[in-house]
Amino acid sequence: MRQQIVAGNWKMNKNYEEAVELTRAILEKVEKPQGLVVICPPFPHLRDVGKMIKVRKNFHLAAQNMHHEDKGAFTGEVSADMLVSVGAEFVIIGHSERREYFKEKNPLLAQKVNVALARGLRPIFCCGEPLHVREVDTHVGYVSKQLKAGLFHLREEDFRKVVIAYEPIWAIGTGRTASSAQAQEMHAAIRILIARKFGKVVADEMTILYGGSVTAATAEELFSQPDVDGGLVGGASLKPDDFAAIVAALK
Ligand code: PGA
Repeated sequence: MRQQIVAGNWKMNKNYEEAVELTRAILEKVEKPQGLVVICPPFPHLRDVGKMIKVRKNFHLAAQNMHHEDKGAFTGEVSADMLVSVGAEFVIIGHSERREYFKEKNPLLAQKVNVALARGLRPIFCCGEPLHVREVDTHVGYVSKQLKAGLFHLREEDFRKVVIAYEPIWAIGTGRTASSAQAQEMHAAIRILIARKFGKVVADEMTILYGGSVTAATAEELFSQPDVDGGLVGGASLKPDDFAAIVAALK
């Protein structure tokens, strides 16, 4: 069975008190989710937000990033083991903001995926093309390359633990959502790519999220597409009413 997921990526927003308040409001507004709700707060809030959400069925905790080494002299970094020890179950890897601002490249991301899986974290692996790639119609090839480089070295049993998030960069934080047809086209292409490598059963069961300016108004149509299994939500995840409406749009 393919898991339906809405993940809320808070990015670098909310101090501790605000994070507790946002979590409280989300728990109040989100009713009986039809899939998993994954909350991705900043590192300092993971433990307490995690404790708050654990009491609710189908709520899970994710970190937004991790370092690829287990431990050592890497000032300012956070390891997979640390994340697990404060309750994280998922970790976002390869978000376009990490790729762009922190120069994280495919080989490093593949390493992070390996370490996350080895420590028992499920990667939410992001892929997506910039605008100039979309404009010359090479987006499917571009995203295929990212997925092959980041994930296709995995054994099937590990690959099945990964959640893929397709996030066209031109749609992130811009208010410009991909149309449901654009999302479906890419998600279907990703599933075909997976089927070629890991077989049709694995491809059918893979969760592929759409991300990029998902709102309460656009979620239902996006999630109604046959290959869109939920969303990775940035801006709207900071607004409890909007986030609840997006969760309610899960099919
Ligand atoms: P957005 O962010 O919903 O604010 O566009 C999505 C993301 O970056 O995961």
